[in-house]
Amino acid sequence: MTSVNRPPLGVGLIGYAFMGAAHSQAWRTAPHFFDLPLRPRLTVLAGRNQDAVTDAAERLGWASTETDWRRVIQRDDVDLVDVCTPGDTHAEIAIAALEAGKHVLCEKPLANTVAEAEAMAEAAEKAAARGVRSMVGFTYRRVPAIGLARKLVADGRLGDIRHVRAQYLQDWIADPAAPMSWRLEKDKAGSGALGDIGAHIVDLTQYITGQTLTGVSGMLETFVKERPLPTSSGKLGGVGGSETGAVTVDDAAVFMGRFTGGALGTFEATRFALGRKNGLRIEINGSAGSLAFDFEDMNVLQFFDGAEPAEIAGFRRIIVTEPEHPYVGAWWPAGHGLGYEHGFTHQVVDLVNAVAAGKDPTPSFADGLQVQRVLAAVERSAGAGSAWTEIPR
Ligand SMILES: NC(=O)c1ccc[n+]([C@@H]2O[C@H](COP(=O)([O-])OP(=O)(O)OC[C@H]3O[C@@H](n4cnc5c(N)ncnc54)[C@H](O)[C@@H]3O)[C@@H](O)[C@H]2O)c1
Repeated sequence: MTSVNRPPLGVGLIGYAFMGAAHSQAWRTAPHFFDLPLRPRLTVLAGRNQDAVTDAAERLGWASTETDWRRVIQRDDVDLVDVCTPGDTHAEIAIAALEAGKHVLCEKPLANTVAEAEAMAEAAEKAAARGVRSMVGFTYRRVPAIGLARKLVADGRLGDIRHVRAQYLQDWIADPAAPMSWRLEKDKAGSGALGDIGAHIVDLTQYITGQTLTGVSGMLETFVKERPLPTSSGKLGGVGGSETGAVTVDDAAVFMGRFTGGALGTFEATRFALGRKNGLRIEINGSAGSLAFDFEDMNVLQFFDGAEPAEIAGFRRIIVTEPEHPYVGAWWPAGHGLGYEHGFTHQVVDLVNAVAAGKDPTPSFADGLQVQRVLAAVERSAGAGSAWTEIPR
């Protein structure tokens, strides 16, 4: 039986811009490449403007629309709610959906504050006791090279982890004329580069190493404090007019931290690294080997095996496109690379498998809460002259 003939899983998606489109293609594509135990149905797309949501539903393949997310969670034909809206809405939507008995996939960062994230993790735990599942969208976990990196660490190929070096470098607001957007407003986004992209490298380094951060010392900076208000919106920003608004989040975050296993970590998250477009880079050095990853070359994982004789030792460039690699076997013949969107499809695959198996998927809302605590500790540290700040467990 292919997934086409499996029992349906009605999906309601809230928000239809960047992540809405990425998640839509994942829901559409997953059952065509992976043999899923349930068949996702693109049941309803929700936005706030009827014309815009109707247009988006047609483009992205959704069967119906709503203009209030509350209607989505009331519908009997919706089993799972997918939250693709800015952070200020995550807690309210996700908690209401879980209480209504709907499984939830919620975009990262889980929330805008630790208090919201705590409430969400509590709601998720209660829901799980009733068989209702939840997952937070730290999508990069599902890049095959990242899965391989985690496996190499778990297999002991790196030995004891000593250094974790992580950067997330973008440049889309390096130009001071780049207009305001919700990502630059604290009440909508929670924080700036820290929560938007720093959250990913916190999650990924913890995921790959199997360790969590115990404390941090950080610096935050807002280089451009006023920006033009947008006159039209684009993919991430848009076009600015003559009026300006205040940027109320960090433009860049730099922090260091200690991991539970004793490793030292350095982290950098910025949207001001001119020329770096999606430079999510991770390098890990252990007692037995090292690995390095850069999302701008996302099908490759670099691995250095410290046991090799010095004469021939060197970083090897593993092209992570073999059927033996995580998720890859479901796609193309070996060597035909994957792209940004595949991580979202893998996320759907893992979520649907967990829902069908009656298991809690990962990363859980509790994992999302833990990342939120790291982000909050960085902010507290930065506000206290970079003072060392423990992360509550
Ligand atoms: N997993 C990833 O790699 C990744 C990448 C980008 C963004 N994100 C996260 O995804 C979320 C959304 O970001 P985005 O880039 O898609 O933003 P976006 O601005 O492109 O889209 C946000 C959408 O939410 C809608 N929206 C806002 N408030 C709403 C409400 N009250 N009810 C219904 N719709 C509402 C907007 O109309 C828009 O369609 C954020 O939490 C962001 O951090 C995750």
